[in-house]
Amino acid sequence: MLFKKIRYIFDEKGARNTGIIVMNKKVSLKDIASKVGVSTALVSYVLNNKKTDRIGKEIAGRIKIAAKELNYRTNQIAKSLKTNKTFTIGLIVADISNPFFSALARIIEEEADKKNYTVIFGSAEEQAEKSFKLINTLLDRQVDGFIIAPAENAESNVNYLIQHDVPFVLIDRYFPLIETNWVTLDNYKASLMAVEHLLAGGNKRPGMITYNTTLNNLRERKTGYENALRKNNIHFEKDWRKEILFDSNIKSSVEKAIDELLALPVPIDSILFASNILAFHGLKYIHSNGIKIPGDLSIITFDEMEASDLFYAPLTYLEQPVLEMGQLATKILLENIDMKKDPVQIKLDATLVVRKSTLPILFK
Ligand code: RIB
Repeated sequence: MLFKKIRYIFDEKGARNTGIIVMNKKVSLKDIASKVGVSTALVSYVLNNKKTDRIGKEIAGRIKIAAKELNYRTNQIAKSLKTNKTFTIGLIVADISNPFFSALARIIEEEADKKNYTVIFGSAEEQAEKSFKLINTLLDRQVDGFIIAPAENAESNVNYLIQHDVPFVLIDRYFPLIETNWVTLDNYKASLMAVEHLLAGGNKRPGMITYNTTLNNLRERKTGYENALRKNNIHFEKDWRKEILFDSNIKSSVEKAIDELLALPVPIDSILFASNILAFHGLKYIHSNGIKIPGDLSIITFDEMEASDLFYAPLTYLEQPVLEMGQLATKILLENIDMKKDPVQIKLDATLVVRKSTLPILFK
């Protein structure tokens, strides 16, 4: 059925002149075909990127130009009814304004777009309930699948998707007891590498500031930190590790943690921050207290901290492979939308980016 657009012509007095009604019909594939002088099937193949290897570039170009000139718009409703897909995916992350997640989102959007998919974003603010609400809202909008960085205690959300056979991939975090598709960093290995880098630079008492959470990626960072000390025969003092809550008081909690670490009978001489957000608040506080980096304190963090590029001692950081992470998660999801496959689990390595904040200091 052709949806027709009725446009009323108004006379100079603004009165609607119902004598003239201009009917703008929707442009169809047939209109394009007759304009170019080819079959409707060929127009459909070209505009849906099908059989591209068997269609000449010249004729494909002429078809695309004609579609643009006629202002052709794909009838998404008709397309969805035919393919049983809306070519949309939901991306739910903790906080889309966080540079780590916004970088991931851009990469996922670019990858999805290559396959004619649109991404609809949602921020769950590390709340399982909000994440579940977003999942249902997006399911109501008939998304074909999800990429989710799950919030803490969101196992029930994941099981809901499994029970309803909804294609999805977890990214950045996953739940070890639930067999699903996931793509994440090898957090344990990255943390181990970070602490050994601090030790190699002459630090002897590395502390850690992380979150008090059951999220596996952050727990693996904690374990990697502790095992790195044990592996290097350094007696791990529980007071060296501070865990703060995922709440609105992150800034004051980080400041309190730094005060406590520096007030120890034998203070720590370096800090591993478990995320960019923690490092951001930590660096501001350390600098405001006149503490010299790396002279008084060596600093290393997970995630690039662009803000520190302007600092006199840019931070050494563990760079996450967000490009590969986003590309793989999108590939796995789109494959599963087309046909359900066995779950895939991928751990990727971090890259240690060494900068001034961990330069070896002979004496501390
Ligand atoms: O704030 C971003 C951090 O939390 C990253 O390290 C990422 O792994 C996320 O879980």
